[in-house]
Amino acid sequence: MSGQDAHVVGVHTPTSDYDVHVGCGILDEVGSLVRKAAGGRAAAVISDSNVAPLYAGRVRSSLEAAGYQTCLVTFPAGERNKRFSTLENILEELAQAELSRDDVVVALGGGVCGDMAGLAASLYLRGINVAQVPTSLLAMVDSSVGGKTAVDLQSGKNLAGAFLHPRVVVADVECLHTLSHELLTDSCGEIVKHGVLADPALFEHIVACPVNAPSTDDAQMASIVAQNVRIKRDVVNADEHERGLRQTLNLGHTLGHAIEAASDYQLGHGSSVAAGLCCVARGTERLGWTQQGCARLIEQACEAHGLPTNTNLSVRTIMRYATHDKKRHGTTVNLVVPERIGKVSLRSVTLEELEEVVRLGCGMAEA
Ligand code: GLY
Repeated sequence: MSGQDAHVVGVHTPTSDYDVHVGCGILDEVGSLVRKAAGGRAAAVISDSNVAPLYAGRVRSSLEAAGYQTCLVTFPAGERNKRFSTLENILEELAQAELSRDDVVVALGGGVCGDMAGLAASLYLRGINVAQVPTSLLAMVDSSVGGKTAVDLQSGKNLAGAFLHPRVVVADVECLHTLSHELLTDSCGEIVKHGVLADPALFEHIVACPVNAPSTDDAQMASIVAQNVRIKRDVVNADEHERGLRQTLNLGHTLGHAIEAASDYQLGHGSSVAAGLCCVARGTERLGWTQQGCARLIEQACEAHGLPTNTNLSVRTIMRYATHDKKRHGTTVNLVVPERIGKVSLRSVTLEELEEVVRLGCGMAEA
């Protein structure tokens, strides 16, 4: 891979070293990049029923050109299929394909696929290599990097999983051409979050030039994706198992997860995070924990992308879902507070304090 549109971001944690390649038209490089990073004889491409017809043929050809025997394992697309029964089918298919411990799983798709394939790779034969080939913007800027994998339980999202870092990530922004505008917009919630978290320049840039605008070309998209990967990489490098700093990536998620779950997952994850981020910022600003004016700036960034900035759920409903979040610690919750654009802090709040944030921040904003 070469050219000014190609970016390589190295992830270096205490347990893992790998590169995230971001570029235009690099799907054909998957084979050589996986060969270099993971080796092995066979590669199982795991994809969903939406993405496999679009890109699995090209990825398999690239893997075969690099000397791999390939097979394709697909599952029905959608968050509601991110569960143990789907995982079990995938594991059976890996066994039927006689994948060995030296072989590799290639996750081709969005966040659900990355999670499912990553978890399958962590379980199959007690762990084999995985390469992530994200095809959605959300997966490129967030879920394909950092090694979190999971399935949902009846009791909630992502409640059973494992950490398994990929050996390599290949993000081809041309894949975003087939993503609906709605899904592209939804992903921008995590990009706004990254700007608030760590990068005032990125934040300012995306307010002026929204990522989901038709004028964003592939080279600009690749650059935005690479900047987001660097933000996430810096956090993951410092705290791969989410003991401290990595919890800040949950900015907007305490209320966002509640909003998402209360909508029965009809509102997308990024949109829910955007609404949760605006709500928390308004609430914490009114408590004096956030610089005055910060909440309005965050609302403007969300508005520029057509993302929601609020919810009409009641305080009671939000609290009911928020207090079931897996990030709860007994009677306290670690809330990520935006102090100003580019700086956040982790604050252990009581459920009463969280309720006060919700009361002050959710519902219609003051004029
Ligand atoms: N998506 C948040 C994390 O990977 O920690």
